[in-house]
Amino acid sequence: MSDTAATTIPGRRYSDRQTVLEEDPRLWRRTWLLVASTDHVAHPGDVIEARYGLAPTLVVRGADGRLRGFENQCPHQGAPLCLGTGEAWSEIKCNNHQWTWDLAGRLQAVDFGAPVTPGQEIPLRPLVVETWGPLVFAHFDAGAPPVTEAIADLAATVEAAGIDPAGLRCRSLVQVLTGGNWKSLVDGTTAIGPIPDLGPRQLPNLAVRADGATGTVTIVRARPYVSVDRAMFDVLVLEPRPAGEAPGDHRPLDVNLKKDDEVPAEAGVDPELIAFARAQVGAVPPSEDRVLGPGDPPELAALHAWLDEKLAG
Ligand code: FES
Repeated sequence: MSDTAATTIPGRRYSDRQTVLEEDPRLWRRTWLLVASTDHVAHPGDVIEARYGLAPTLVVRGADGRLRGFENQCPHQGAPLCLGTGEAWSEIKCNNHQWTWDLAGRLQAVDFGAPVTPGQEIPLRPLVVETWGPLVFAHFDAGAPPVTEAIADLAATVEAAGIDPAGLRCRSLVQVLTGGNWKSLVDGTTAIGPIPDLGPRQLPNLAVRADGATGTVTIVRARPYVSVDRAMFDVLVLEPRPAGEAPGDHRPLDVNLKKDDEVPAEAGVDPELIAFARAQVGAVPPSEDRVLGPGDPPELAALHAWLDEKLAG
């Protein structure tokens, strides 16, 4: 993040469709993206996707046990290849015209099973994949620096709580579609206010809370949805893996919270987080420039200075 704090946050950052279009190449395709947990893709053929606005990601575990990432967009006419999660996939097949790739992204068949013509072997677009503890990250740029550089504060928070990331598993992933722009969610989880004890923000759309007493880690992820005034608010709860349990013995609880659904107690999610996300549903994205004052935390100014840099480049 930049050392030079922003003093003004442009209103169009929250409400202008052009800004969303600029974020795609300048931000999401140049940033490590949290896709899921290793528990979501523990077995060969497990697949999961996460979309960041116009940047769709997919991670799959191959028959060789290796995790690979691809752009979740068919190279033929752009349809998504995976929606949500999948299990026991032996191939990646687009539902539109059934072009098919193996789990390493090599084209196996084209229109409705027709053989691939020599010279037209169009692979899936690969992403770089790295893990940290039970978290799986992807990056669009093959030359990206290691993910550990990008999540240094997050890792420090977890380790300062005396928690070994290698000993964690994913308990749950709760996703909530909410209103407003994704940056409103980030601002809200950064600022003093409704969720005061969320710790460092990273990447820049993650926040982390680590509880040394229980050994649990809560990661909050904000993502742009398909329009400028919709966003996803996701909560991943990580907990100590029970002694003797191997990765793959456990499936996380996945919940997509609809309008008035209660968050299940077994998800282990702080209801305050969900209440915060839902409070954004009717929020109108700011359109006026906002001047930061002494009451705003320095992290908020640093975030927007960082965005200033990224979006200008
Ligand atoms: S859009 Fe995917 S096969 Fe045509």
